[in-house]
Amino acid sequence: MKIFLDTANIASIKTFADMGVLDGVTTNPTLVAKENQDFHELVSAILKIVPGPVNLEVVSQDTEGMLREGRDLALLGPNVVVKCPMTEPGLVAVRKLGKEGLKTNVTLVFSPNQALLAAKAGATYVSPFIGRLDDAGHEGMEVVEDTLQIYRNYEIETQVLVASIRHPVHVVQAAKLGAHVATMPPDVLDKMVRHPLTDTGLKRFLDDWAKAGLKLPERRTLVAKARPYG
Ligand code: G3P
Repeated sequence: MKIFLDTANIASIKTFADMGVLDGVTTNPTLVAKENQDFHELVSAILKIVPGPVNLEVVSQDTEGMLREGRDLALLGPNVVVKCPMTEPGLVAVRKLGKEGLKTNVTLVFSPNQALLAAKAGATYVSPFIGRLDDAGHEGMEVVEDTLQIYRNYEIETQVLVASIRHPVHVVQAAKLGAHVATMPPDVLDKMVRHPLTDTGLKRFLDDWAKAGLKLPERRTLVAKARPYG
């Protein structure tokens, strides 16, 4: 499963890109607004760090506006994915942008039927919002499970990008179901890195090492003693 970061925060994107765990980025108008920065500068910086898909969302509500914005956003980089909302004009825009060779993501998906229609319109990715469904008293992950089954039944190539992830268990569930991508906020990815037993284990190793008064050999000693192989 690919891991995308759901943020427009450059420092967070850089942190996880440096670890080599980041496959792409998703943004939305809320996340971009949070950064309080010039849009063009912000996106250019993100595109410099991330070679994988970078999802940027249109803000128009009519097809013509979405097409105009989508085409402009795609000019920013070859890895830009144009996010359109799951609306009638959004589906028309996705179909047209797809025919022009652009990658698209249908966002704000809350049912398997919406996911089926997004795929029929030719979306590259479909984004079911798991956390928001959970918040509303539904089992968000069921939409992922049903969508994956439907796509498998008909050999649909649209990728399921699990969005609105709130905690690491969502990530495990998405991966077990075989979702193509999970996008998550930096705090969730950070929690995935950490485990209390890793911290206590590391502390014990270092305490034992210090107590024994050991030291790793210096490089120049190793080089001097090195013998050619063979
Ligand atoms: O990027 C879309 C989605 O992941 C938003 O998540 O936490 O605002 O429901 P959330």
